[in-house]
Amino acid sequence: MNLILFGPPAAGKGTQAKRLVATRGMVHLSTGDMLRAEIASGSALGKRVAGIIERGELVSDAIVIELIEARLPEAEAAGGAIFDGFPRTLAQAAALDAMLDHRRRPLDLVIRLKVDDQALLERVAGRFAESGRPDDNPESFKVRLAEYNTQTAPLLPYYRGHKKLTEVDGMGSIEEVASSIDAAIETRRA
Ligand code: C5P
Ligand code: MG
Repeated sequence: MNLILFGPPAAGKGTQAKRLVATRGMVHLSTGDMLRAEIASGSALGKRVAGIIERGELVSDAIVIELIEARLPEAEAAGGAIFDGFPRTLAQAAALDAMLDHRRRPLDLVIRLKVDDQALLERVAGRFAESGRPDDNPESFKVRLAEYNTQTAPLLPYYRGHKKLTEVDGMGSIEEVASSIDAAIETRRA
């Protein structure tokens, strides 16, 4: 099964993806994690994207599409992928559909975690204090939220139109959100 965990930054996508990996053995494909690994390794790509990420802007479609494409065989072997933080633009969504359809493993489900802006701001303030992730600073987070609203939110009608979208209340505890996600997956499977 291939599914997208969809939602604004700090909605809990990464947390829930890690749980799904542990319980279902799927592969977690987080383009944010991949880009941070490139930066940490000091690669040429990492150097190109570091400033963009620190400011909270989006890197080019071509870069993230290539990162995802390279990992699809591994995900396929594991029985499916959980896409986290990808796609973020309509061009990325179209490319993902094309890649998955070509491999005859189409996208099954898009689970949108709904969290209101006030809660996101509170979460990210806590996360910034704890982990010090550079782009969680208030200035960059504002940019990330704006990028989400302008570039990424338009994917909601796209996936709704394809009958792939399910919405889940992302405001509860980690366990509550996890059981809503499980229910959404089981409904799709049935
Ligand atoms: O998904 P995550 O919030 O971890 O991504 C961190 C940053 O990586 C984003 O704010 C953005 O700068 C960059 N990114 C991107 N395009 C993606 C995924 C991540 O530009 N598809
Ligand atoms: Mg994340």
